[in-house]
Amino acid sequence: MSNDALPVDSRIQSLLARMTLEEKAGQLGVFADMVRPFAPDVNPETNMRNAAQVLDDVRAGRVGTLFNGVGAAQGRQIQRVAVEESRLGIPVLLAADVIHGMRTVFPIPLGEAASFEPELAERTARATAVEATAAGLHWTFAPAVDVARDQRWGRGAEGAGEDTLLGCAFAAARVRGFQGDDLRAADALLATPKHFAAYGAVAGGMDYNYVEISDGTLHDVHLPPFKAALDAGALTVMTAFNDINGVPASANQALLTGVLRGQWGFPGVVVSDYTADMELVAHGYAEDDRDATLRAFTAGMDMSMQSGFYAAHLPALVESGQVPLPLLDAAVGRVLALKAAIGLFDDPYRSLDPAREADASHLEAHEALAREAARRSIVLLKNEGGVLPLAGGQRIALVGPFARDLDNIEGCWTLFGDRTRYVSLEAGLRAGLPAEASLQVVDGCGLETALEGGIEAAVAAARAADVVLLAVGEPQRYSGEAQSRTRIELPPAQQALAEAVAATGTPVVVLLRNGRALALEGAVRDAQAILVTWFLGSQTGHAVADVVFGGYSPSARLPVSFPHASGQQPYFYNHPRTGRPETPQMSEFKARWREYPNTALYPFGHGLGYGRIEYGPVRVDAPVLEWDGALKVRATVRNVGACMAEEVVQLYLHDRVASRVRPVRELKGFRKLALAPGQSCEVVFELDRGQLAFTRADGSFGAEPGRFEVWIAPSAAAGEPAGFELLQPPA
Ligand code: NOJ
Repeated sequence: MSNDALPVDSRIQSLLARMTLEEKAGQLGVFADMVRPFAPDVNPETNMRNAAQVLDDVRAGRVGTLFNGVGAAQGRQIQRVAVEESRLGIPVLLAADVIHGMRTVFPIPLGEAASFEPELAERTARATAVEATAAGLHWTFAPAVDVARDQRWGRGAEGAGEDTLLGCAFAAARVRGFQGDDLRAADALLATPKHFAAYGAVAGGMDYNYVEISDGTLHDVHLPPFKAALDAGALTVMTAFNDINGVPASANQALLTGVLRGQWGFPGVVVSDYTADMELVAHGYAEDDRDATLRAFTAGMDMSMQSGFYAAHLPALVESGQVPLPLLDAAVGRVLALKAAIGLFDDPYRSLDPAREADASHLEAHEALAREAARRSIVLLKNEGGVLPLAGGQRIALVGPFARDLDNIEGCWTLFGDRTRYVSLEAGLRAGLPAEASLQVVDGCGLETALEGGIEAAVAAARAADVVLLAVGEPQRYSGEAQSRTRIELPPAQQALAEAVAATGTPVVVLLRNGRALALEGAVRDAQAILVTWFLGSQTGHAVADVVFGGYSPSARLPVSFPHASGQQPYFYNHPRTGRPETPQMSEFKARWREYPNTALYPFGHGLGYGRIEYGPVRVDAPVLEWDGALKVRATVRNVGACMAEEVVQLYLHDRVASRVRPVRELKGFRKLALAPGQSCEVVFELDRGQLAFTRADGSFGAEPGRFEVWIAPSAAAGEPAGFELLQPPA
């Protein structure tokens, strides 16, 4: 019997028995793919090596995974070197940051989370996987599942916002979408929930900063989306750059070994973030490169990205006895098992088919999906006087630096998008323009600078129009990795444009471009209508036109709270109760800022459609919940408007008295439903003790008997609660 026919386990055992220490360390190395066309803008230090060196390393068995290059034909060449020219013929894994689309670009994950439709994210992740695997990839470093409670942090754009339950739903959906039903299929893309852990909690919202966090917040808020992603089948996890209460996440034994492997039984591979092991030295947590290697590896980090530390130091650490050989073999075994799980040993050329890469037959369907996902991600914050949708024969002025722009529609972490297929706002609006309407387009200003005569031209266009579509917001590079902000506001040049346009008195509809919640000010905040359009991807213009002209009634809801002002950050709806809450009667010496109450301008969960939805009172089926019982909570929701509408019905809970101060509200369920004009629906949620559980004062996880409040509401700030009591456990 040939070796290839052996069951995977014994094949891996047999490889391990034959590998040198250098080859073992090589399998744990992840290096930039300088062989194929590479995304040069990210991580510039990757250019440390050239293609020939990388191929030499593959040939010598010094590297097991390459990342961020694409192309099936050259991928085959790399694989041929690995399989035919390296001593043991172990195939390489080909990875990349494919975050929200490959050639077809879908909305940024934060935007897509606004749809409150995890199944939509599953579909876009699937389409992404189809395109990525066609382009010669096996593995994506996604989804980012960091809960982002501070909007200054630029990487909130990559996740699902500020809420844990929503984050869990999207984390799991994206993993399912990327990986598909069969990991061995040519279009299955390995998923990597990242960044483990608490990366979204960096102090002051500054990327790469330290994290000081309580155990309760870590376990109840930041860890669950990782667990959800693993339960959905993710086989790899990426560590975070930050430290947690002084211990860097990438050398954090308690997390990587204790929680991940111990408590959760994770069988897969832990990969470092980019040079995260090297950074242990900069953190002042490791003495030198060798010490950093020792600490990261023994804490539970299997693979090292780009630093080269594992290749340089692991063999000597094993020889000196500081790293036990079985520990190294276990890590290498996991990496080889990962390769086996996607069928690489049986077909090293899987996902490396140039004919499949050239085949464009699926792209039309993906474009349609991108348009659907984009319009389902748009949030209508306000719509005074029903200015939207735009009626028939209006004279429309499209004003703003994003009007014709094609450089700011994809959003952060889009490395491989096909720009030739991007649809600008102008192009989309022209394509959807009703026959009798007219469209005049004026930039008005640059993204950050005034334009000579820009404001005058914009004002003239606004005066000559019935309505202004004001396309303003954040440049794309303001969000994403390393893009933290102290002021989450519009650039002053754009704010000045907005003020001048509003002063004409022509109604203004803001088309907001943003990678985070923003603090809206002046004429932007006070516009007649505001559509939050995030970064919507390839089909931006068409999707916005669908909403603006009424072809689609907006159905998305905010996955992040829009504050009144930047200085409120971190602001998130599910904050702990203060001892001095503000009341309608009393503001003095209460928890508030001098200028603003402790509320959001637009709360989490908020969003309007073109229908008008009314909620009946929330009712509980019983005043008590038995310890082992279940309780139904219900409310009737009715579309009393004249248009079809989709409503996101949200279930919130509050624990009145507990051993630790509990959040004012927490999302415990949501349901999106379509309602025709006049249609009503009774929405029923079921609660049990599990949903009331939290990390208690003594560190244990569970519910505490006592009083609870429950809402069924259209946002985190709406509605009146019903009450019930969780009874004591039976004696
Ligand atoms: C650094 C980022 O933090 C991470 O998300 C990404 O996957 C790696 N670089 C690889 O590009």
